[in-house]
Amino acid sequence: MLSAHPELKTMFNAESQVDGSQRRRLAGAILAYAANIDKLVALDAPLDKIAHTHARLNVLPEQYPIVGFHLLAAIKTVLGEAATPDVIDAWAAAYGQLADILIAREKTIYDAPELATAN
Ligand code: HEM
Repeated sequence: MLSAHPELKTMFNAESQVDGSQRRRLAGAILAYAANIDKLVALDAPLDKIAHTHARLNVLPEQYPIVGFHLLAAIKTVLGEAATPDVIDAWAAAYGQLADILIAREKTIYDAPELATAN
């Protein structure tokens, strides 16, 4: 992703790019979302923390499709033949929902930072 979008490089902490922790946090959040899809209230606090981290770094709505595109490509690579169109569609839908939730939370922070609880 960062080779295709070098403009995003400065946002990401160089150390955690190298040790893989950044990729693991993103993958972990997507998996937690999938595991809690029927009880999303369990994800309220973690999602709030991610939204605050993103807002501190000025993550913007238009950057979500970039991350989503590269995440789906990575899922396809990892799953290989198991990545049937239905499986990929399901992951794309889950990513889209999670992105919508985060974009909405980040918008409330950008619109009224003084009302956002610190995290
Ligand atoms: C549904 C989509 C996304 C999910 C689930 C997600 C998840 C996460 C998680 C779990 C963290 C760690 C938060 C923490 O430790 O407080 C994080 C950090 C971060 N996210 Fe996202 N993210 C998403 C989309 C994006 C997008 C679109 C961008 C913009 C390019 C972005 C940029 C970042 C950056 C720069 C960090 C800090 C990384 C570092 O430590 O260097 N994320 N994200």
